[in-house]
Amino acid sequence: MIAIYPGSFDPITLGHLDIIQRGSRLFAQVIVAVLRNPNKTPLFTVQRRLEQIRVCTKHLTNVEVDAFAGLTVNYAQMRGAQVLLRGLRAISDFEVELQMAHTNKTLSYEIETVFLATSNEYSFLSSSVVKEVAKFGGSVDHLVPPHVALDIYQCYAQNHPVSN
Ligand code: PNS
Repeated sequence: MIAIYPGSFDPITLGHLDIIQRGSRLFAQVIVAVLRNPNKTPLFTVQRRLEQIRVCTKHLTNVEVDAFAGLTVNYAQMRGAQVLLRGLRAISDFEVELQMAHTNKTLSYEIETVFLATSNEYSFLSSSVVKEVAKFGGSVDHLVPPHVALDIYQCYAQNHPVSN
């Protein structure tokens, strides 16, 4: 079975990586799909995010990294995938994830959403938390892969001076 793991991944965190690794043991192929979202102003370009994810998943032979635009179910159908993979951290995720899963079900009945409970040590972790910590000069070494941490430090040092 082919699973799509869709998301913004701005940037990928150790929590995302944990879901990718565990998903790759459950499914024949996992396609990590980065959404091209014109409504958001990301920290990293889609191209940079693809590279960041490729570096830390290159040891996983059944994981592919790609970008997509539009509806996730349309992309899944185009790739011949049957599953949308999502991580669930806490009750706070549940409402929005359930709404998304139900919506996707109405759009494509054949595609199932499968949730993996995020590992305990990453249950607090999100890309937003990572950006918040880095923005104010904190270390993100324990939150993201090493090459991503370097990218983040560089990005905030060059382009994101903290003002008011
Ligand atoms: O990492 P994120 O931002 O939580 O990922 C959200 C994502 C990309 C999975 C979701 O916004 C999405 O699937 N967007 C594509 C548009 C779509 O298919 N919408 C229908 C479901 S509500």
